[in-house]
Amino acid sequence: MTRKVSELRSQRWFASSDIRGFAHRQRTQQMGMRREEFMGKPVIGILNTWSEMSPCHSHLRDRAEAVKRGVWQAGGYPVELPALSVGEVMVKPTTMLYRNFLAMEVEEILRSHPIDGCVLLGGCDKSTPGLLMGAISMNVPAIYCPAGPMSTGRWRGTVTGAGTHTKTYFDQLRRGEITEDDWIDLESRMTRSAGTCNTMGTASTMTSIVDAMGLTLTGASSIPAVDSGHPRMASLCGERAVAMVYEDLNPRDVLSADSFKNALVTYMALGGSTNAAIHLIALAGRAGISLTLEEMAAVAAKIPVLANLFPSGNGLMEDFYFAGGLKALLAKVKDHLALDARTVEGCSLGEAIAGAECFDDTMIRNLDNPVVPLERGCSLVLLKGNLAPNGAIIKSSAASPKFLKHEGPALVFDHPSAMMKAIDDPDLDVSEDTVLVLRNAGPVGAPGMPEWGNLPIPKKLLMQGVKDLVRICDGRMSGTHYGTCVLHVAPEAAVGGPLSLLRTGDTVALDVSAGRIDMKVSAEELDRRRGEPRHDKPLFETSFTALYQRHVSQADQGCDFDFLAGVRDLPEPEIF
Ligand code: FES
Ligand code: MG
Repeated sequence: MTRKVSELRSQRWFASSDIRGFAHRQRTQQMGMRREEFMGKPVIGILNTWSEMSPCHSHLRDRAEAVKRGVWQAGGYPVELPALSVGEVMVKPTTMLYRNFLAMEVEEILRSHPIDGCVLLGGCDKSTPGLLMGAISMNVPAIYCPAGPMSTGRWRGTVTGAGTHTKTYFDQLRRGEITEDDWIDLESRMTRSAGTCNTMGTASTMTSIVDAMGLTLTGASSIPAVDSGHPRMASLCGERAVAMVYEDLNPRDVLSADSFKNALVTYMALGGSTNAAIHLIALAGRAGISLTLEEMAAVAAKIPVLANLFPSGNGLMEDFYFAGGLKALLAKVKDHLALDARTVEGCSLGEAIAGAECFDDTMIRNLDNPVVPLERGCSLVLLKGNLAPNGAIIKSSAASPKFLKHEGPALVFDHPSAMMKAIDDPDLDVSEDTVLVLRNAGPVGAPGMPEWGNLPIPKKLLMQGVKDLVRICDGRMSGTHYGTCVLHVAPEAAVGGPLSLLRTGDTVALDVSAGRIDMKVSAEELDRRRGEPRHDKPLFETSFTALYQRHVSQADQGCDFDFLAGVRDLPEPEIF
C-alpha cells in the first residue's frame, strides 16, 4: 500500500473540520450511514448505466449491489451513481451521438464528487468506450465491470444470435420464406436474458478488447451476464477498486502503447466489429497515445480471425466462454502480444493469462487453422482513394470474395428514407454489379454516424437470390452484420468529402487487396461538380446536437470532441 487515506481526494470533502466538512458528513449520515461506515475510507463510485431502456444492462442494478459487497469487504465506502445508459436499439438517431456525452458525464461525475476510485458498469456498445474515455481523462483508479453477454437463443432448433439473425430472418420474411406469425414468434425467442448481444458485435468486441488492454479483471468480458460467476466477478471488481486506490493505479498507468497493440491483436483475432476502429482511436487519444488506421490494418493483415463467432463464424458468446473465453484466445496469440503490459489486477497481462487453456479448438481456433484464412479476409482493411482520401474501412472477412475486386455503377442515396422508399420498387434500376451508396450518414451529416452502412439489398435482387452487393457509406455498420460494406468514409459527404461529388451511374472501383476505393470520374469533372451548389442539411442550432456537430472529429480521428481529446489537466474543484 503506497497511499494513506489522508492523501485521498475524498478527504478534502470529509476530513476537514470547517462548515463544509461538517455538511458533507452530516448529509452522508442523512442517508442512514454511520460515521464509522464512511469516515477514513476510500470512496468508490459505482458508475451504473442501468436503465429500463437498456435491456442489455437490466441486471446491472443487482450487479451494483455485488460490487458494493466487494467494496465493503475491502474496507471501502461504495456509492452508486447513475450514468447515461446509451442502450443500443432504443436510442435514436444513434447511441454514437451520445458516446461523447457519456464520456463527459463520467469525467464530470468523478471530478465533482468525493470519489477516490471507481467501478464502471456497462457493456452495450457505446457504454464501454464512453465510460472509459471519461475515466481515462479523469485518471482516478478505475476498473471496468462488463455486463456480460446474454444467453444463447434458439428458434425451432436453430441457434439465433442477436442482430445477425434478426437481419437474416428479416430478409427471409421479405422473400416470403417465413410468415408474419413466425416473425412475431421470433420477437420473444431471440433475446432470452439480460446481457449484451451474444454475437461478436460491438459490445463483445469492445468489452473483450478493453479486457485485453488490462482494464477489467482478465477474462471478465467472457462471463455470461446471468452466470453466477458474473456477480462474483462484480464483487471482486469492488474489492480490487479499493486496493487500486491505495496503490494509486490509474488508467493512464495501466495503458501504454503496448496495451493498444494488444487491443489490436485481440480485435483482429476476434473478427471484431468495425466500430472498434473508431472507439480505439478515441480511447488512445484520451490516453495521449497515437493510434492510426494504418497501424490497425497492419495488425489485421497478420492476425486472422480465430474466434468462431457470428458474424464471421457460427458460435455465440456462451460457446466462447465454455471454450475458455478471452484468456484462451489471448493464450493462442500470446506470441503477438506485449505480455509485460499492465492490468488493473496489478500484474502483467502475461501473468494474468498464465495457464489459460482452450477446451474447444473449433470455437477458439489455432493460428494455423483460423475461421477465415488471411488470404480470404481479415477483420479490417484500410481503403483509400479519390472517394475516401482520409480512409474508409471494410471487414473483408465478412465480405463476399467475389466482390473484393469489383467495378460497377453507383446508385446513390442522400438519405435513408429515400433509400427505403426506393429499395423494394420492382422497377429499381439495379443489378448484382450495382454499387449501393448512402451518404450524409457521417458524424456531422446524420448526425452521430448511425449504423446505416449495411444497406438493404433491393427486393428485386433478393428475390433473385442475391445476398450481397458492394455498399458504401460514410456511416457505420452494426458489428453483428456482414456483407461487402465499405464504411466510415472520411471525410464524410456533409463536410464536403468527395463522396458528396459522386453521382448515380458513375463507375466505382473497389480493390480490397490494393486498399483502393475510387470513382472513375475525371479530375476536371470532379472540379466542375465541386463548383455546383450544395444542398447540405443545416446544422442544428440548439441542444447537445449543435455542440456535437461543431466539435466532433471525423471517423479516422475517433469522433471525439476537439475540446476533450488528448491528455488534459483537470483541476480539482474548489471546496468552499
Ligand atoms: Fe446492447 Fe447489442 S443491443 S449489446
Ligand atoms: Mg451493435
